[in-house]
Amino acid sequence: MKDLFGNALLDYHNGNYTEDIITSTSISDDDVLPLPYLFRRFKNMPKLEQKALKLAKGWVLDVGCGTGSHSLYLQEKGVTVKAIDISRGAIEVAKQRGVLHAEVKNILAETDAFDTILLLMNGTGIFQELSQVSKYLSHLKRLLKPNGQILIDSSDIKYMYEDEDGGLWQDMNANYYGELDYFLSYKGEKELPMKWLYLDFNTLLTVCTSVGLKCELILEGEHFDYLARLSL
Ligand SMILES: C[S@@+](CC[C@H](N)C(=O)[O-])C[C@H]1O[C@@H](n2cnc3c(N)ncnc32)[C@H](O)[C@@H]1O
Repeated sequence: MKDLFGNALLDYHNGNYTEDIITSTSISDDDVLPLPYLFRRFKNMPKLEQKALKLAKGWVLDVGCGTGSHSLYLQEKGVTVKAIDISRGAIEVAKQRGVLHAEVKNILAETDAFDTILLLMNGTGIFQELSQVSKYLSHLKRLLKPNGQILIDSSDIKYMYEDEDGGLWQDMNANYYGELDYFLSYKGEKELPMKWLYLDFNTLLTVCTSVGLKCELILEGEHFDYLARLSL
């Protein structure tokens, strides 16, 4: 990973904001990811994220924290948070913004136990592909204290395969439709391609059941997105 994402966050944070990140996927064309969005405050967060922050309690782990927007809100409310991300640039920014416990770490290397584990802004993305969901969920389950909870958001992206007449153009021989190849570029430089997973609620529920986690639908968003709570 070249960490172009982290470089962009550092540029924005250091007052060198000249352009946004450009993303595309295996099923969609170029799209702009505005850097200010990654520094959002509570009032500019989607309702699903606001709800997750209201439900967070105890010792919290913010997985894939980015610039630490969610961690900062919780810290300001007096909640103790540990924020982790694989992006060095993101963690540097999170620390400079005031996140007290921020670490460059892959979730699979985390070993502490938490009351709340947050995975927000399509939290299932880091699972990468359907075949890996049970591995990640089993690991997250081991990090939960007895009454702990995992708060995770995602979307059912079936709508992205609809043509103008409402028909679906999905290739039935292809993998699960939420498995995307994700491409990111910044200032003309291309990041190494990544895999990024969107998971519909029923599929998440099925995998949760298979690894012994309860899975509740907490809130649905305006565009096929949802927040789920997983517990023991
Ligand atoms: C879509 S961004 C979300 C950032 C932040 N949660 C937000 O809502 O603004 C996903 C983040 O997850 C991080 N990430 C991806 N895979 C990860 C992993 N295995 N462990 C920890 N962080 C990961 C990425 O570096 C990125 O910062």
